[in-house]
Amino acid sequence: MEQFKYKNGVLHCEGVNVGDIAREAGTPVYVYSKATLLAKYKAVADAFSGIDTTVCFSVKSCSSLGVLNVLRGAGCSFDVVSGGELFRVVKAGGDPARVVYAGVGKTDAEIKYALEQGIMMFNVESEAELSNINRIAGKMGKVAPVALRLNPDVDPKTHRHTTTGKLENKFGLDFGMAGHIVDDLPRYPNVVLRGLHLHIGSPVNATAPYGEAIDKALAFLKAHPKADATVEYLNTGGGFGLLYNEEDVPAFSAYANEIVPRVKKAGKKLILEPGRSIVGNAAVMLARVQYRKFNGVKTFVIVDAGMNDLIRPAFYDSYHRVWPTSDKDTGKDTTTALIQTDVVGPICESSDCFAKDRPLPNVDRGDVLAFFSAGAYGYTMSSTYNSRPRVAEVLVDGEKWRVIRKRETWDDLVAHETI
Ligand code: LLP
Repeated sequence: MEQFKYKNGVLHCEGVNVGDIAREAGTPVYVYSKATLLAKYKAVADAFSGIDTTVCFSVKSCSSLGVLNVLRGAGCSFDVVSGGELFRVVKAGGDPARVVYAGVGKTDAEIKYALEQGIMMFNVESEAELSNINRIAGKMGKVAPVALRLNPDVDPKTHRHTTTGKLENKFGLDFGMAGHIVDDLPRYPNVVLRGLHLHIGSPVNATAPYGEAIDKALAFLKAHPKADATVEYLNTGGGFGLLYNEEDVPAFSAYANEIVPRVKKAGKKLILEPGRSIVGNAAVMLARVQYRKFNGVKTFVIVDAGMNDLIRPAFYDSYHRVWPTSDKDTGKDTTTALIQTDVVGPICESSDCFAKDRPLPNVDRGDVLAFFSAGAYGYTMSSTYNSRPRVAEVLVDGEKWRVIRKRETWDDLVAHETI
């Protein structure tokens, strides 16, 4: 996380001491680095510059308007999975004509809204959905651009919760059904087939599964020349890896080496839907230590963030580096005397644990801890469980920072309720 560095023992995001943010904006708080967002977007775009590529940032990974606006300003397009996400893109000034829309359960209202906005294409996940889009587009006097989302039955070897491209998963069309559809396209006069879509999982810390999936999609096109003639785009989805700990993460160029030559040879344009790899290491979550306790067996550090604020460790057993933001303020030598510590939140569940048996300095009440690599699926997966208001988000730009989402209040918690 190049833009999150310790200077004189104090964690900085770009030019800002994150301790100042914790003090002024309060904790817990998500802190994003604008420079990282821009650098990561550029790195993806550059790695894939050998072919006509539309980079659609996956809004589900981080949907804050302030973040979307930074990426939009850099020329990024967007991938959405709900009407709400499309609404956010529009609010952030994004161009709907460069939005792709996936998801197995699009409602009539969502389809209508997307057609009104004039999105680039729907990634269609079933025959029933295609018929429905055809029906709604017909009623609106429109022709809906679509890509068929193929389920390539490829194992990306990632967490079972985030494997999407195997037949046991609910996503996409099996090749048999996709074949029936493309052989019978005149049945859907109000849709135009513009692409094929694949997404195999997330994170995929290997490049070969992409090649395998693309080869299957291209073989499908070869067997269906009519579809081949209208398909302009191959969308390989998201899933590029992120360095959380010590895993081997391929560089963007390595993914590109696997993907670009294949798509180029087939004469198609490319769409990518990266989320995690752009925003994951663009943010930390800061939380303050409330209490420390030792029960004779284990040491617990209890922070003011809970699994409702960052659910990934509880949900996926995922690793986030945790470290005090200030080696100096704590007055403790962080290089020695590390203690095996469980870092936990205040929620009434044992799974409310961010790190188990983690060697940590002797932090105590008032110290601020940084939870690294929290930008992707951090805030977006947060909830108000245990009636805890959602936390604030801050965007750092060089020496400056500002709140891009206010901390919710107890009044916000009950704003839509009646007795
Ligand atoms: N496109 C589609 C169709 C997807 O389903 C996803 C992620 C992406 C793109 C973006 O993938 P990325 O580049 O971010 O890996 N909550 C989980 C991850 C769920 C991913 C869901 N789909 C986590 O926290 O690890």
